[in-house]
Amino acid sequence: MTNLVDTALAAAYAHGPGKSVRVPNGTPSPGGARPGRGIDLAELADLGPFGPALVRALSAALAPQRWEPWNPYNDHRAYPSPRCAYLTDATLRLGEDRRLLDPVRLVLAGERPLPDPSSVDSVGVELTVAPHRLPAGYGALRDALAFLEAGHLAAALVEAGAPAATAVLRGAGGASGVVAQVAFRMDPAPAGRSRGRVGAVRSSALAPRGLSADPRPLPAEVLRRLIADGRPPAGSPAARSGPGGLRHRLAVRGVTGCADGLYELREGGPVLRAAGPITEYLQAAFGFGPADVDVSGMNVVWVSTAEVAAVVRDRGPDGYPNVLMTAGAAAQHVCSAAAGAGLFCRPVRSYAEGAVEAAVRAEPGEDVVYMLLIGRPRVPDFCYDLTDPEQPR
Ligand SMILES: Cc1cc2nc3c(=O)[nH]c(=O)nc-3n(C[C@H](O)[C@H](O)[C@H](O)COP(=O)(O)O)c2cc1C
Repeated sequence: MTNLVDTALAAAYAHGPGKSVRVPNGTPSPGGARPGRGIDLAELADLGPFGPALVRALSAALAPQRWEPWNPYNDHRAYPSPRCAYLTDATLRLGEDRRLLDPVRLVLAGERPLPDPSSVDSVGVELTVAPHRLPAGYGALRDALAFLEAGHLAAALVEAGAPAATAVLRGAGGASGVVAQVAFRMDPAPAGRSRGRVGAVRSSALAPRGLSADPRPLPAEVLRRLIADGRPPAGSPAARSGPGGLRHRLAVRGVTGCADGLYELREGGPVLRAAGPITEYLQAAFGFGPADVDVSGMNVVWVSTAEVAAVVRDRGPDGYPNVLMTAGAAAQHVCSAAAGAGLFCRPVRSYAEGAVEAAVRAEPGEDVVYMLLIGRPRVPDFCYDLTDPEQPR
């Protein structure tokens, strides 16, 4: 067991994730670093025929998209972040030129002009993490949450830049601190696939009075679509298998024509491992009761596991951050697929690891790494749209 959890997280979410209680979160609002005046991201459109697609991809993956008046945590972007603290910074690399990106103002740091397009032979985004933006009470869990979030953002960039973007994970980041890199092929990227994926509004759920799913049965087709569309696309770190690979199990409840129980995702699709009320066992493993978070009533609880000790033995200390980022990336694709299917998808880490592992019948050596609560929202969201009306979506 990784044993990272969880008094810190329990304390941090002690108000319950959905209660409209104001809790000081000690993070810069609306999150992220502020690089000064800088240069408008839109100027990248002049970077040859590839420029406009790059601007679209960066804005779609990084920019704030909505503000929820009921929510103590804002803003909301294409990827989730614990408490909207935004623990990951993105630096744009144009050849050898590097500039921190301000995702709120969509501005690149530095007053110097952009390099001449003819001198730019490669373009990428480098991700660094800033776990200290979470309150100190999170303890060591801050690092785990930051790496999970970095995986989400790497995957969001891959989705938004598809098919021209490829992400590579770099563990704890070494001397540079760069934990992941996303490279963009410099051809005019058709953003065809990305629209479907990042176009739908992703949400961890409207939860002003506790988090729960619509209790009516979910059509089997919705589950089928979630699983099919949640597969990692080419270029995603989650698409690579091998040592450090994840196993995904789904506790399913209330899906038409589908027995309640525990399913494992295999190449050919989900395989029933055990019938029964698995979401109820997961409720018992969760840090909050059903009045705060109704885990037992979710249509799907998606549990990702990895053999962390074996990975660290094989890969050294960078193995664990890479497992976390891979899990974050896999989860991001599920979040996007859920949005496309009209579902919310809330990533959580506030659970007792051993109890979750027992509920999903994890094998010895397998550790739970991440959990996603998925269901149909009871009501549509009400929020302010922060997207640029001139930006095609
Ligand atoms: C790594 C990670 C861990 C999270 N852990 C929890 C959690 O334990 N409990 C919870 O209610 N929400 C958790 N969240 C969800 C965030 O609170 C949520 O993403 C944030 O409020 C923003 O909402 P949005 O995803 O709808 O934009 C987590 C999110 C991430 C990325």
